[in-house]
Amino acid sequence: MQTRTLGTQGLTTSAIGYGSMGISMAYGTSDAHGDVAISAAFDAGITHFDTAELYGWGENEEILGKAVAPFRDEVVIATKFGFTPDFGFNSRPDHIRQVVKNSLRFLGTDRIDVLYQHRVDPTVPIEDVAGTVKELIDAGDVKYFGLSEAGADTIRRAHEVHPVSVLQTEYSLFERDVEQLFPLLHDLGIGLVSYSPLGRGFLTGTVKPAGQYDEHDMRNTDPRWQPGNFEKNLAATEQLQHLAESLGVTVGQLALAWVLAQDDHIVPIPGSRDPRRVAENAAAAGLALTSALLEQITRILPSGGFGARYTAENMPVWQ
Ligand SMILES: NC(=O)c1ccc[n+]([C@@H]2O[C@H](COP(=O)([O-])OP(=O)(O)OC[C@H]3O[C@@H](n4cnc5c(N)ncnc54)[C@H](OP(=O)(O)O)[C@@H]3O)[C@@H](O)[C@H]2O)c1
Repeated sequence: MQTRTLGTQGLTTSAIGYGSMGISMAYGTSDAHGDVAISAAFDAGITHFDTAELYGWGENEEILGKAVAPFRDEVVIATKFGFTPDFGFNSRPDHIRQVVKNSLRFLGTDRIDVLYQHRVDPTVPIEDVAGTVKELIDAGDVKYFGLSEAGADTIRRAHEVHPVSVLQTEYSLFERDVEQLFPLLHDLGIGLVSYSPLGRGFLTGTVKPAGQYDEHDMRNTDPRWQPGNFEKNLAATEQLQHLAESLGVTVGQLALAWVLAQDDHIVPIPGSRDPRRVAENAAAAGLALTSALLEQITRILPSGGFGARYTAENMPVWQ
């Protein structure tokens, strides 16, 4: 698989990464074995694996750490701190140090390649957060600094204390807001990790209306799945599907190739618990879209999907 650089501090990974959140949260329960999907990702050329404390309070990191152990030195592990179990925020320096200790133990590794602040904590100055991450980098526990769902001011201030290598936020044909930050990311030399690049699965065409998912599946309340939005998003996905079929690829592959085509310093991290889907997603790295095709795609979805990306109470506030 092709590689991409993220930031100017030396972080290089496969052009498509793997997000492990769905193994233990967000999309309902499953009999699938996360470790099998992770091994399939590595076999398909993926060297970038994303997890977080939040995704299971150790469980998700443990699954990922065990699965990548046979090839640990060939991959990049990214994890995140900053949530509390009741979805509040905590980025106090002592807490960050403790979470990193825990994550290293759960992951069974001696270093975290990318450490993200998962959400900006309005009660802790970002300079204190960046300073703490810098200490952890100087100590060798962490290699690169990342921010998730941060706005321009936070990115600039953090970057002054320690260079930020990567911003992670939702980015897909359904979600384009982060494009307003592209000039800043270019100026500062910061890469972008695009999360939910398949629109939480909508852009694969395998969706059901809200209410028909497992009771623990967040898509039951996702605005894009609610009546009114769901039908419009489905109609757009069907049009994309026709286009994908004419190219001999899947609509999910088309959606991932579209993300990759927006900039050379973007790495999407689709998640799947199914090894065959993981391989399908990875293969999208080899799909180059002409500017005519990119235009056709953008005509179908000129400014993203219908409906907000989170419910109002969970919507991240960029600051
Ligand atoms: N920083 C943050 O705040 C944040 C927030 C959300 C996510 N993330 C990260 O981003 C990663 C990816 O995002 P995501 O998991 O939310 O969304 P996603 O990758 O856009 O979509 C995942 C969903 O799509 C399905 N899927 C994946 N590939 C498929 C395929 N080829 N065909 C059909 N269905 C397919 C998966 O189901 P199956 O598992 O059943 O295949 C799953 O339900 C996460 O795992 C996490 O690491 C970060």
